[in-house]
Amino acid sequence: MKAGQTAAERLKTAIDPREFDTPEFRRDPFPLYKRLRDHRPIFRDGFHGRWALSRYDDIVAVFQDNERYDRALYRPEGPYKFGERSVFGPNILEYGNGERHRWMRNIVADQFVGNRLQAFLPYIEMIARELLDKISQKAADDIAKGFSDSGEVELVSEFTSQFPVRVISNMLGLPRHDEDTFVDWYQRLIAGMGSGQYYVDGIHARDEIWDYLEPIIEERMEDPGEDLVSRIVTAELNGKRMNVGEVKGFVALLLAAGGDTTDKAIANMWYHMLYTRPDQFDEVQADHSLWTNVFTEMMRYDPVVHVQGRRTTCEIEIYDEVLPERSPVTLYLAAGNRDERVFKNPDTYDIFREDLHMGRELRSGRYPDGRAGHLGFGMGQHFCMGYAMARQEAIIASTRLCEAMKNPRPKFPNHEGITGPSINEGGFRAPRELWVQFDVA
Ligand code: HEM
Repeated sequence: MKAGQTAAERLKTAIDPREFDTPEFRRDPFPLYKRLRDHRPIFRDGFHGRWALSRYDDIVAVFQDNERYDRALYRPEGPYKFGERSVFGPNILEYGNGERHRWMRNIVADQFVGNRLQAFLPYIEMIARELLDKISQKAADDIAKGFSDSGEVELVSEFTSQFPVRVISNMLGLPRHDEDTFVDWYQRLIAGMGSGQYYVDGIHARDEIWDYLEPIIEERMEDPGEDLVSRIVTAELNGKRMNVGEVKGFVALLLAAGGDTTDKAIANMWYHMLYTRPDQFDEVQADHSLWTNVFTEMMRYDPVVHVQGRRTTCEIEIYDEVLPERSPVTLYLAAGNRDERVFKNPDTYDIFREDLHMGRELRSGRYPDGRAGHLGFGMGQHFCMGYAMARQEAIIASTRLCEAMKNPRPKFPNHEGITGPSINEGGFRAPRELWVQFDVA
């Protein structure tokens, strides 16, 4: 029992772990996050066999403590599919905090930031333009045929779910005529993160990708170009390069880590502009430099990735609980982002908030200016490698969408909102669909 709490108080603040698996939680997890922060900052969840942390400072402390918390979640006898059983194959996400992780990360991390990222910006622009041309053409045709007197688009299927994966496949230097196959593989990989038939089909998709990649990897090892596959296969650290198996796993992971998250991020930004803050959307349309604030505040207020896992490496005491060695710990990033101890009016989406560090992320919690960073990309040793790329893609895509669609507005006044799968299925959140109406210039 919590120190100083009576049995009656305990009952009032009790949390049933099955709440994490309810449709209500998928639709709106934030009330439960608040109860966790207020009453169970360390929550022993016997039902799912884990502990949960929800306060900002506690999550930052775990991210920064490599000694006592490891990311090596996977055990041969455990429930997670890893190594050859993983839908991506062996990949960097499976390594803990050790040297092997550092080596693999350092060998490629600089490909996704700075000048190397800048070199890929033309691809990002090109893919955005191609998808938007299709949307504009369809709108013009519909109006010409009298089907509609304004343009309309379902953003998720026609834009967001297409855009980042096509950007990555171009960066990797894969043939453009295979792009549709790549989109199909990526969607099967993502579905394969689930179970049953989806998982089996995901493994098939992964094997098809691997067969497809093998000759390309070997060719680029022999004769490298400027593309990302060439850069990954030739990158060297301490005299060592990645082997073919590691490259295949890394490329498969890039499709999911880079594609699936960024597509949902763009959808979340647009959902909140259209439905939550149409007043601020007007200001953003008048000044596109504000998209960077829209992105950052989305990463705080309603990020795509709500949870990350760690495992204790020794016995740890937090608040009044003792976590044994090798305890799984779930970090509720999205709960920490709404922590009223850190952010004023945390349940308000506000692109002008002054307590959030806007703009490029660092890998730490508090910034020198005293503002706090969002937790949506994690922090510390495993901080998202694609953070700068995701930001660039989301901002370029949103700016170009605004230029192509005059006066964008929701097609339907009501929307079921942003939802996410249960704790057992990964925890990504995004709207399933997003219909937008617009004027054609
Ligand atoms: C808005 C989009 C994105 C979100 C929300 C996101 C979120 C995250 C988070 C929370 C982590 C931390 C994992 C941990 O602490 O265990 C992470 C790691 C990672 N992300 Fe992202 N990500 C995004 C985009 C991307 C992109 C575009 C790429 C690739 C180009 C990428 C590649 C990776 C990789 C490789 C890691 C593992 C890093 C490591 O273990 O050292 N992500 N991401």
